[in-house]
Amino acid sequence: MITLNATEARLDEAQVPLRVLWVRQGALLPQGEALDARLGGLFRRSMEKAGFKGEAGESLLLATPEGHFLLFGAGEDPREAGGRLAQALLKTSFPEALVEPLGAEEETYALAEGLYLGSYRFERHKTERQAKPLALRLSGAGLEALERARKVAEGVYLARDLVNEPPNVLTPEALAEAALGLKPLGVGVEVLDEAAMEALGMGAFLAVGKGSENPPRFIALRYAPEGAQERLDLVGKGLTFDSGGYSLKPTEGMATMKGDMAGAAAVLGAMKSAALLGLPVELRGYIAACENLISGRAYRVGDVLRTLSGKTVEVMNTDAEGRLTLADALAYAERQGASRILELSTLTGAAVVALGEEVAALFATEAAWGEKVRQGAERAGEKVWPMPLEKAYREKLKSPVADLKNVGDRNGGAITAALFLAAFVQVPLVHLDIAGPAFAKRAHPLGPEGGTGFGVRTILEVARGL
Ligand code: BES
Ligand code: ZN
Ligand code: ZN
Repeated sequence: MITLNATEARLDEAQVPLRVLWVRQGALLPQGEALDARLGGLFRRSMEKAGFKGEAGESLLLATPEGHFLLFGAGEDPREAGGRLAQALLKTSFPEALVEPLGAEEETYALAEGLYLGSYRFERHKTERQAKPLALRLSGAGLEALERARKVAEGVYLARDLVNEPPNVLTPEALAEAALGLKPLGVGVEVLDEAAMEALGMGAFLAVGKGSENPPRFIALRYAPEGAQERLDLVGKGLTFDSGGYSLKPTEGMATMKGDMAGAAAVLGAMKSAALLGLPVELRGYIAACENLISGRAYRVGDVLRTLSGKTVEVMNTDAEGRLTLADALAYAERQGASRILELSTLTGAAVVALGEEVAALFATEAAWGEKVRQGAERAGEKVWPMPLEKAYREKLKSPVADLKNVGDRNGGAITAALFLAAFVQVPLVHLDIAGPAFAKRAHPLGPEGGTGFGVRTILEVARGL
């Protein structure tokens, strides 16, 4: 992780190797203006000569008698400005820079968050290239905003690492180990093995995991700070790999399925940040971690499963496995006394068809709870959009032999998946289908391609707003 520090030093007086000056709508921000005046309009002339407009992310490096300056297009959003700047600085040979403020406390926080998120790299499995260090000083920044941004970024980094880790490394057991790694921060972690899950009656979750040599694990987390008045129960989909099972996916469809535990990763990341921040809200987290593979022991199309809730399900597609694991995780959360649940899952390709790669689908069984989560996501800067839990489509999930079947028809696939989940809980439930935004196919202002850590910041904001 890069280093951010607050400094009282002003841009126009500091003698440092590199200073970053923001440009908005073709004009330098005040500190840059003052400097330009002192340098006899050098910046202005250079900008004109280079045809530099200062569009978001556009940069111009200048060597002057007073040292090097990077003129950088800020754009509208300070978070994205930070992300773009961090990526640009990592490409230069400067290990340090002084950065001009982009506004007051709130903008400084967003800028810092963007700097941390934008500079994330996953290089654990690269034998050569190593991340180079970068230390930035933010002129006039408050230490508190920088600390908060760092603690949030720690959680997002954890979620991204877990998603990016290949499926031969991140097995269900390894995911449980990652959860246990939160213990030193004061997070309680309990891991159930197959025997314990059998005894409880998690028949749906166990069936999904049966095809793999790597045994499933059920992970229960608890962060309970003293004096907490509110409690939030989280559930995350934890498929460490989804081949589709006997309803096998084609190779292209399987390529990103190591990320089918992004919901679980968001829960773990949020737990980590909450503990670091000392967030005064109790958080519980539940993850049913397993692999969906093929073998002589794997579950079949046509199997009837008995879920923890007591309801039976006819399996009509083994690739609709997430909802089966979640049915048991949700029922377990409710048994543990949840009064409201926020669940995150890379659940359906249909959600990606409906809303694209950047926007998560939000389903709520109760409008007020749905609105709370929507507002939290908005404050966090993560894109979600409400979708209807259309009751008429419950018909599609009727089975001739069991209480439910696990798929409807092709139409409204994200909705029928959400309706399926809703059948397993009585308390208010928000389901975020993060199949689109959990995994970036291309680099973006806030990070490289791969896991995005989507959901971590939303969970934290929702918890803060309870
Ligand atoms: N993990 C997938 C959903 C998914 C698709 C996530 C694309 C990320 C990107 C899920 O388990 C799945 O395979 N869902 C099926 C459901 C269908 C069989 C009803 C799907 O979306 O095709
Ligand atoms: Zn699947
Ligand atoms: Zn899946």
